[in-house]
Amino acid sequence: MIVVKTAREIRLMQDACTLSARALKLAGEMVEPGVSTLEIDTAVRKFIEGEGGVPSTLGYEGYPASTCISVNSVVVHGIPSKKTILKSGDIVSIDIMAGMHGFHGDNAYTFACGDISEEARALLDATKESLYEGIKAAQAGNRIGDIGSAVQRYVEARSYGVVRNFTGHGVGANLHEEPSVPNYGTPGRGPRLLPGMTIAIEPMITLGDHHTRILKDGWTAVTVDGSLAAHFEHTVCITPDGPLIMTQLKE
Ligand code: MF3
Ligand code: CO
Repeated sequence: MIVVKTAREIRLMQDACTLSARALKLAGEMVEPGVSTLEIDTAVRKFIEGEGGVPSTLGYEGYPASTCISVNSVVVHGIPSKKTILKSGDIVSIDIMAGMHGFHGDNAYTFACGDISEEARALLDATKESLYEGIKAAQAGNRIGDIGSAVQRYVEARSYGVVRNFTGHGVGANLHEEPSVPNYGTPGRGPRLLPGMTIAIEPMITLGDHHTRILKDGWTAVTVDGSLAAHFEHTVCITPDGPLIMTQLKE
C-alpha cells in the first residue's frame, strides 16, 4: 500500500528530513584524508541523538551503524569501520537516515576526499544531476516510471551504468515503504504519483558495468567489475505545486 500523508504528517516529517540533511552536512565536512569512516559514523550518531532524534539505520534489520559509508567501488551499505581510513582521491558516499516524531528522512551525497580524478569528478557531477532529473519528473499525476526513465536517460546518454539491484523507495513512518522507485523505467508506467506521497529518489551510478554483489558481511554492495560508484539521494514530497525536496537545507 502506498501511504499518502496528511499536511500535518508532512510537517512532522520535515523535522526528520531537516535533521537528516544537517547530519549529512556534518558528515561531509569530516571527509578528509586520514579520517576513519567509523569516526564519521560516531560523530553523526552523537549529533542526531543530541538533537533529540534517532539514527534510523542503527539496528535496522541488524544493520550495525548510524550511517552507510561507501568508498570508491562500494555502491551502498558500506559499514563504517575504524579500519577504513579515507585517503586523497577517494570518493565517499554517505547515506544517512534520521528519525523524529515517528517519521524518517533519508539522504545521501558522494563527497570527494582531497583531490579526485577528472573521471571521478565527472561521475559525481552526472550522478548528482541525474537525481535532479529524477526529482523534476516527480510531478503529481506522473508515474514512477517517469522518474526512473528520466534518471536512466540522463545517465546512459553519458555511458555510465544505472544500478538495478537497489532502488529508491517510499519513506515516512517506516524506512522503506511502497512504492519502489527504480532508477530505470518506462515513461507512463508504474504507480501514479499523488500529492502527499513521500519518496526517496536515489540514483546509484557506476563508471563501468552496473552489476553489484554483496560482500560476506551481508551488507556491503560493491561493483562486480571494481569500477567507481556514486550515490545521491533526497527525500521528496509530491505536492500539487511540484516536487518539494524535504532534505534540502535552506542556507
Ligand atoms: N538509506 C539506505 C537505503 O535506503 C538505508 C538502508 S538501511 C540499512 O537503502 F540499514 F541497510 F542501512
Ligand atoms: Co534510501
